Formats: sequence, structure tokens, C-alpha cells
Amino acid sequence: MQSKMKQAGHARIEVEGKSVELPLMEGTDGPKVIDVRKLYAQAGVFTLDPGYTSTGSCESQITFIDGDEGRLLHRGYPIDQLAENSGFLEVAYLLLRGELPSQSQFTAFEQSITRHTMLHEQIDRFFEGFRRDSHPMALLTSAVAALSAFYPDAMDIEDPEQRNLATLRMIAKMPTLAARVYKYSIGQPFVYPDNSLSYAENFLRMCFSVPAERYAPNPVLTRAMDRIFILHADHEQNASTSTVRLAGSSGAHPYAAIAAGVASLWGPSHGGANEAALNMLREIGTPDRVGEYVKKAQDPDDSFRLMGFGHRVYKNYDPRAKVMQQTAKEVLDELGVNDPVLEVAQKLEKIALEDDYFVERKLYPNVDFYSGVILNAIGFPTEMFTVLFALARTVGWLAQLNEMIEDPSQRIGRPRQIYTGPDQRDFIPVRDRG
Ligand code: SDX
Repeated sequence: MQSKMKQAGHARIEVEGKSVELPLMEGTDGPKVIDVRKLYAQAGVFTLDPGYTSTGSCESQITFIDGDEGRLLHRGYPIDQLAENSGFLEVAYLLLRGELPSQSQFTAFEQSITRHTMLHEQIDRFFEGFRRDSHPMALLTSAVAALSAFYPDAMDIEDPEQRNLATLRMIAKMPTLAARVYKYSIGQPFVYPDNSLSYAENFLRMCFSVPAERYAPNPVLTRAMDRIFILHADHEQNASTSTVRLAGSSGAHPYAAIAAGVASLWGPSHGGANEAALNMLREIGTPDRVGEYVKKAQDPDDSFRLMGFGHRVYKNYDPRAKVMQQTAKEVLDELGVNDPVLEVAQKLEKIALEDDYFVERKLYPNVDFYSGVILNAIGFPTEMFTVLFALARTVGWLAQLNEMIEDPSQRIGRPRQIYTGPDQRDFIPVRDRG
């Protein structure tokens, strides 16, 4: 990746009487940045930014979020246009290669994915070591890391050919792994991929077909699944993507870096929020109880938060949540399902968006607020929701990992700190400690 930052001037800071001038850089869109990489050498001080609220870790050309406007672009294309008009594998191509593919480029890419959908036969035995009631994310995190033991021929991240092979393999095998994680948890036999099906169709068939019955794919659910994958594909330098970049910056192979991302995504403040959000909506149960929970969420002494609400970057409506809400209505209408959870979610959104606490803090529904309604309608248990998030986000993690490796300015990530522990002191033998 060649840098496209432009110098837009300088930032000058005074540090203990010493004036330090730092480059002010600008990109295509979004806030300018002060390039502080020489700050310590010039001024002998570090910056401190717990949670990285004001700190960029890298230059990237993949995804852009305008938090104030609620805009999300993938290589410049708005997420709502991609969700409406594109498919997940086409978006995967866009994220990885930077441009939408021609028909022949897409066909070749789709075939390169399809031919890697099967897993080494022994991986199936890997799952036997887990209890059937293990959380699916425990199995997925472990299985992704274990891929390196079965595919050691694509581990050298300095070799573009090997990196490309590892990338194609992981995009192709995540649905097969995720489906096995689900089948293992319900005690049903694993289903092999059928490469005559589309990516989402293949995945749903591996999850929901059983040997005893003919399986008929549902085009409405297939389209909804593919759209959910698009909405989860990438999202700038979120916690799990930053984890992937940091893990990869040490030279760790792609399987290890992606496994680190899966582990980070599991947290309820991040990818685990979709499971927590649906559990919360079910706990609320009926629209008349929504007000009670909106009050709980504001109580500083109560750790309860509205799951699926709020975002570090979006201070406006998450554009993915808008598409997700529309898709939830379409799917439930198509299926003729009247899920009371959707009514609770819509009432909760309405009340929260009129409440000063949420308005002042600019808290809006995020991608996780409505996704559970659709995933539940498709037939997944809540414990599988973050697995589905990880399946889709693998494309974004791989695009970001490859961009980092190809970025000449990137080095091993090694943050500094401010130390406030004890000053230097001499060891006291235990006999003298009293
Ligand atoms: C994802 O980063 C990404 O891009 C992530 C993601 C992606 O695609 O990769 O978009 C996916 O992780 C979406 C977020 C899913 N998480 C949740 O829905 C969990 C609930 N949300 C919160 O925990 C919270 O909003 C975060 C974690 C998402 C963001 O936290 P921040 O930016 O650190 O904000 P904060 O915790 O400092 O909150 C600011 C204020 C606080 O109140 P005060 O201390 O100022 O009084 O807002 C309050 C918070 O208490 N607040 C909430 C709230 N979220 C924030 N209050 C009630 N309910 C909430 N959901």
C-alpha cells in the first residue's frame, strides 16, 4: 500500500518550554491527524490515550466511518448501496482488492473461494475434545487457531502467494467451520459443503440440512444472511481489527492473527453484543416494560446498559442498523412471523431516542440491535450470533491484515505507557521483612 496522506501544515506544541513542530496530515475524508511518531525523539514525552479515543493506529484505504453523519464507506461505496445491490463475496473482493470486480474477475474469485470450502478430515475430530454445551465461540476461536496445524503451507506472511492462499482458505473455510460449530452444539451430523450453491446458501445448508430430509433453500433467508454478512464485513480499526493488526505486526501467521481477532470480537462490548442484545430484548419481554429498562440503563449505580446501543464512533444512527431493521421487517413479513421481540426493539428505540440521557450522549442503535431478530428468524440460537459476526468479519480482518503487511511504514506494534508504580528499591530478604 502506498501512502496517500498529504501534509496540511504543522502542529506546534510547547513541552516544558521546548517548542516541537509536528506534521499535520490529511487524508481523503475525516479529521486531520498530527503525526506524533517523532514526538518522543524530539520532546522526550509520550502521548497517552486509554481506549484510543483520539489516536489513529494506521493509514488505511479500506473503510471510512463518518460518525457524526452516520456514514460507512467500503473503498468509497456507501454500505446501504452495497447491501442493496451487491453480494457478500463481491464486497469481499472489493475490500481485498480495492475495486468492484468485472464479471470475469468475480467468477474467478468466486471459484477460487469455492474450491477451498472443504476442511481437512481430521479437523472434525478436533471438535470431539469439547463438551457439546461449550459456547460456540470457544470452539471457533480454537478451531481457527488450529487451522495452522492443518495448512502449514501458507504461513509465510512475507510471501504474497502464501498470504493470498491463506486469505482464500479462511474466507472459504469459515462458513464450514461455523456450521460445524453449530452442528456439534446440537448433536447433529456435520454436512459437507456443496459447491454448486452460493456462499450464503452453502452456509445455511451446512447449518440446517439433515441427512433424513431433503433440504430446500429459502431465497428470502439466503438473501437476508448474505446481507447480514455484508453489514458485518469490515469497520475500520475496531477492537478486533486492531487486535488482528497488532498480532500480525509481530509476524504471526494469518491463522494466529485471525484467531486473535475472533477472541477479541467475543466480548459483550463488541461482537458479543448481538447475543446480549437479543437476550436483553427477551428479558424485557413486552413493550410496556421498556420504560423500566431505559431508566435502569441511566442509573449510574446500575451496570446495566442497553445492548446494541451506543458506539465509540457513531454519534448518529449506525447506517447498518437502518438496513438491519428494514431487513428484519422484510424477513418476518415474508415468513409470516410476528416476533414480539421486534415490537419491543422498536418501542425501546423510540423511547430511548426521545430520552435526554441518550440524546445528550448521542446513543443510537448500532449494528447489533436488530441483527438478532433476523438471526433468530433464520433459526440460529443466540449463542451462534457472534460466530456469524466472526464469519463475516474475517474478510475485513484479512483485508486489514494484508494492508498492514503491505504498508512500508508499519512496524511491530509496541505501545508505551505512563508508569506510576513504586520507584526503584532494593530487594529485602524474607527474614528481614517482619
Ligand atoms: C460493535 O468499534 C466498532 O466499530 C465496533 C463495531 C464493529 O462493527 O466492529 O461497530 C461492532 O462492537 C458495536 C457496539 C456493540 N456494543 C454494544 O452494543 C454494547 C453496549 N454499548 C456500550 O457498551 C458502548 O456504547 C460502547 C462500548 C459500544 C462504546 O463505549 P464508549 O465509546 O467507550 O462509550 P462510553 O462507555 O464512554 O459511554 C459514554 C457514555 C457513558 O455515560 P457517562 O459515563 O458519560 O455518564 O454513554 C453511556 C456511558 O455510560 N453509554 C450507555 C451505553 N453506551 C454508552 N448507557 C447506556 N446504554 C448504553 N448502551
